Amino acid sequence: MLTSDLIKNRRSNRKFLDKPVEKEKLDRILETSLRAPSWKNAQSYRILVVQGEAKKKLSDLLVSHALAGNKDNPDFPYQENYPSYLKKRMIELGSNLYKHLGIDRKDMEKRNEMLLDNFRFFGAPVGLIFIMEKGMGYWPALDLGILLGTIMIAVREEGLESVAQASLAAYPDIIREELQIDSKWNIAVGISLGYVNPEDPQNSFVSQRCDFSEIVSFY
Ligand SMILES: Cc1cc2nc3c(=O)[nH]c(=O)nc-3n(C[C@H](O)[C@H](O)[C@H](O)COP(=O)(O)O)c2cc1C
Repeated sequence: MLTSDLIKNRRSNRKFLDKPVEKEKLDRILETSLRAPSWKNAQSYRILVVQGEAKKKLSDLLVSHALAGNKDNPDFPYQENYPSYLKKRMIELGSNLYKHLGIDRKDMEKRNEMLLDNFRFFGAPVGLIFIMEKGMGYWPALDLGILLGTIMIAVREEGLESVAQASLAAYPDIIREELQIDSKWNIAVGISLGYVNPEDPQNSFVSQRCDFSEIVSFY
């Protein structure tokens, strides 16, 4: 498939098949993606790959921590104070997604269930957790973003799909403890990936994009 098609037809998939990802495919995706550029080639990230029992144990811990009502405590605080025109886009996303799934915005039970699905890696057989050393700021985070984007395209060349997940960084202490990661590492973000049924409503939602002219200016 053309790279432009891999990019244009990518969307966040939130329901994965219970089908393992071949090790050769996963290795190829990660090895290819690690060709992503970074500031002075620092490559200041590490990737923790969770699968099988390790993923299930981590998932169970995250779900029970969320169900117990614990507040998110991300190492990299969530962005606050988005200007109103950006907030509008974010609200539209939620409302379009709920509409697509036939979920009433007021149905908090279903909405909470959807949130919890994040901690179940949306049923994906592979979870990637990206970590960076404490003290890493904007530029290393930019490099990490490039890596994330590259992985999400490389995944598609192998017939797989993915979703990026800030939610996997919500409870960093649990991840550090469970995966025995030193406290000098921040938990930055995650990706779930695997095979999907593209017809499933959770996977067929196409998010909007604003007008080209709202983003791009030519001089
Ligand atoms: C850094 C990052 C974090 C994200 N975190 C989550 C998340 O925690 N849960 C989720 O369901 N989607 C998450 N998403 C997916 C976005 O909601 C999605 O990319 C956006 O709505 C655009 O839709 P698309 O990916 O289908 O094009 C995240 C995306 C990015 C890039």
